Amino acid sequence: MTGWGALPQQGVPAEQVLAEIAGLREADLPTHGGTLFAYVYDPGVSGLDDLAASAYALSAHVNGLNPTVFPSLLAMENALVGAVASRLGGGPDGVGSVVGNLTSGGTESLLLAVKAARDARAMPWSPEPAVSGEPELVVPVTAHAAFAKAASYLKVRLVPVPVSPATLRPDPAAIAKAITERTVLVACSAPSYAHGVVDPVEAIAAVAAERGVRCHVDACFGGWVLPYLRRLGVGVPPFDFAVPGVTSISVDLHKYAYCPKGTSVLLHRDEALRAPQYFAYADWPGYTMVNPTVASTRPGGPIAAAYATMRFLGDDGYERLARETLGAVRLLAQAVSDVDGLRLLPASGGPESTVVCFASDDPELDLFVLVDELSARGWYAQPQLAYGDLPRSVHLTVTAAVATRVGDFDAVLRESVAAARALGPVHVPGELVSVVANLTPAQFTASLVDSMSAALGLGGRNPLPDRQAMINALVELAPVPVREAMLAGFLSSLQRPTY
Ligand SMILES: Cc1ncc(COP(=O)(O)O)c(C=O)c1O
Repeated sequence: MTGWGALPQQGVPAEQVLAEIAGLREADLPTHGGTLFAYVYDPGVSGLDDLAASAYALSAHVNGLNPTVFPSLLAMENALVGAVASRLGGGPDGVGSVVGNLTSGGTESLLLAVKAARDARAMPWSPEPAVSGEPELVVPVTAHAAFAKAASYLKVRLVPVPVSPATLRPDPAAIAKAITERTVLVACSAPSYAHGVVDPVEAIAAVAAERGVRCHVDACFGGWVLPYLRRLGVGVPPFDFAVPGVTSISVDLHKYAYCPKGTSVLLHRDEALRAPQYFAYADWPGYTMVNPTVASTRPGGPIAAAYATMRFLGDDGYERLARETLGAVRLLAQAVSDVDGLRLLPASGGPESTVVCFASDDPELDLFVLVDELSARGWYAQPQLAYGDLPRSVHLTVTAAVATRVGDFDAVLRESVAAARALGPVHVPGELVSVVANLTPAQFTASLVDSMSAALGLGGRNPLPDRQAMINALVELAPVPVREAMLAGFLSSLQRPTY
């Protein structure tokens, strides 16, 4: 590939193109096999990928822009929404009025939940009272960063409420206190991404309802698996439409429903609550555009692939996968608690869903070095930076495929801990410390980021070095706005065209 990037003068044969992609994919971490504890969700079910790919191909050129022209997508979308609603307190056995849409992912679902809540207060026909001044969104500080993105895009003020360092949950009374006459939405997680903790949804929805404010439950991460865990005897607190005051729920199908990337569901308790989610525009000479989601042209492929996945696995299949996942969570948690110096989060009792998260109180055991040691042994955990009074931690998203390998983890963890202790904590060079301590976000220009990247050996085809403890430690030292500027600058430096 030279000259025009991906575009050759003459087209290249199909096998060559596929070989090129396979070659590029060699640089990626493994999406399958249960050793990558973030980003990917692997059920370990043979034949599922091929089925989803065939279904994707069948609908790849169908456009969800106008479902009356392509009723196949409408039928599949409504059936998927029905499946999710029926697991979460909606449908014929629950709240019959629940409606929903497929979106491209969790971030879009949250964006639309915030948009619907904001615009409900701005539409003359809405029964919800208008807000004067900047609308506000109240969330526990553990709510996913996508809420901050939605707030930023939609010009809504984010009001984060602290969580208890022991339970990692907010106090509903503190949520109640944060609600003002400008609050358009209160949101909480079931469960949170970082620690896998289910917020006190009943109490939060009650305080929101008391003030006439919508309450969104972000069940993007684990909302699909929680009902199955409950069926298996796990004490999952109420979090769905059975809880009075819950007005909307988001659930990502590309997470624990094991569908290919690009599908999430946003549910509303009824059609009136959903109405402000739609965007309709007839004031131009082209077609009247009516969109329930951010995208106008909506790809059919992910919808068909999700439909195929859900039909293939079925309720029994998801229960079996949840059982395998739960077994893996318990073994991983046991392996962690058997190691001196590591402690499970939340401190109030360890894993509550499908996340195993741990911290360390041992100053000689640097968790970032431990993550590098695990990677060196083929296990990829996600480091989480210290934030406020919450400690640095290691996050493991556990999916069903982990069950096939979990027996090896205990020994690998022990070895990695011993190696991390032998190496000791990383030391960030003084000059880098002063860069992050003294510069303002505006000073992180492209050329400064380029020279920092060069000094740290970053960039190229594998943008990060194998050992990242130093980089994580450096970023952790930076104040939040500097963390953001530095990492956005670094990503931008990677996203330059190749010719
Ligand atoms: C709880 C929660 N909400 C929202 C999101 C955002 O989802 P996406 O990355 O699909 O946009 C995630 C992603 O991990 C999540 O865990």
